Amino acid sequence: MILIIWTMLPPCGWKLSCVDEYTWPQWKVPLVRKRRTVPLSSPNFSANPQPELSGTCGIECQRRLPSPSLDDLEQFLSYETVYENGTRTYTSVSVQGLNEVNTWSRNASTSSRHKREVYGTDTRFTIADKQYSTKYPFSTSVKISTGCSGVLVSPKHVLTAAHCIHDGKDYLDGVQKLRVGDRKGKGKSRKSRSRRSAEPEKPSFRWTRVKQTQVPKGWFKGVSDGMAVDYDYAVLELKKAPKVKHMDLGVIPSVKKLPAGRIHFSGFDDDRPGNLVYRFCSVSEESNDLLYQYCDAKPGSSGSGVYIRLKEPGKKKWKRKIIGVFSGHQWVDVNGDGMQQDYNVAVRITPLKYAQICYWVHGDSSECQVA
Ligand SMILES: *[C@@H]1O[C@H](CO)[C@@H](O)[C@H](O)[C@H]1NC(C)=O
Ligand SMILES: *[C@@H]1O[C@H](CO)[C@@H](O)[C@H](O)[C@H]1NC(C)=O
Ligand SMILES: *[C@@H]1O[C@H](CO)[C@@H](O)[C@H](O)[C@H]1NC(C)=O
Repeated sequence: MILIIWTMLPPCGWKLSCVDEYTWPQWKVPLVRKRRTVPLSSPNFSANPQPELSGTCGIECQRRLPSPSLDDLEQFLSYETVYENGTRTYTSVSVQGLNEVNTWSRNASTSSRHKREVYGTDTRFTIADKQYSTKYPFSTSVKISTGCSGVLVSPKHVLTAAHCIHDGKDYLDGVQKLRVGDRKGKGKSRKSRSRRSAEPEKPSFRWTRVKQTQVPKGWFKGVSDGMAVDYDYAVLELKKAPKVKHMDLGVIPSVKKLPAGRIHFSGFDDDRPGNLVYRFCSVSEESNDLLYQYCDAKPGSSGSGVYIRLKEPGKKKWKRKIIGVFSGHQWVDVNGDGMQQDYNVAVRITPLKYAQICYWVHGDSSECQVA
């Protein structure tokens, strides 16, 4: 049946369904399987949180790098798990069905330049009223106790940035007692919405301990070299599921080609303590693994889930899905000559990363064959 659909709709490539650019495409996803897990010595948990990353090899810089081989990818997607009791394991993985994914356009990025003036104006919205901040989609945003943000991608799994957990050499001090905070619901939004009663509502989080944390080896120093930022993501499993709806993951080949190619994300920016901050913007440049944009963001919003809205196949309703993780403001070496330029970078969820994150969440790769 699927074969017939494919031959009928050749332009869709390895998409399983091909409707229009307002609909979530369905992709066949490669299989990421566990090879083996070995114990490692306990980490020192000595790293300090980094507010900003510098010297990142960004889209332009990465264009000069050779495409990773299957062996490379298997190494980058292998991962460490750190448990609540401070112990750590290493799991190597195998990747199957990658040839289809290689048609994922290597040259999706375009050379359009950003608009500085947009970047200069603060266009963030504080979602102060609990009536909204504790409701979907804002309720999926959580605070990570190391100072970042994250997003619920299952009833008890949170997607965040790897640098919120590990600095490339060691786990952050604080990961041993890692906690995730969701916004307490039942906020009595006072009737008096007048300016006078604008005393900020006290930030109130309901904190949950993290049972285990998974970080891809591609993030670790010396593993993927110029591609480390592509692996700036991690998944945390909570001890208890907060009673909050999560947001599904989605895969999209090009955000810029969408008619309304805007991304959205909400997080806990440092300059507005305790408040959830929402913003949206267009993507300036994109590659397979990264999205560059000039959404206004401050440290603290790193790890936020970047989402877009498209229709479910065959349905009229719009559905939001997470298509990336906000990595943060970064200084990027553009031409490999040491000249640094600033960007906001988000890590895109590719079919391979979808397969890995789905495997972490479900513990069973057979549940992760279609995105
Ligand atoms: C912990 O720190 C010690 C001393 O700096 C170092 O020798 C050791 O390799 C570190 N362990 C790990 C797992 O990083
Ligand atoms: C730590 O927790 C992990 C996962 O629950 C378990 O497999 C391991 O045996 C524990 N190690 C110690 C030293 O308690
Ligand atoms: C990359 O760009 C070239 C030239 O524009 C095009 O022929 C090729 O099909 C593109 N590759 C992919 C995978 O989209």
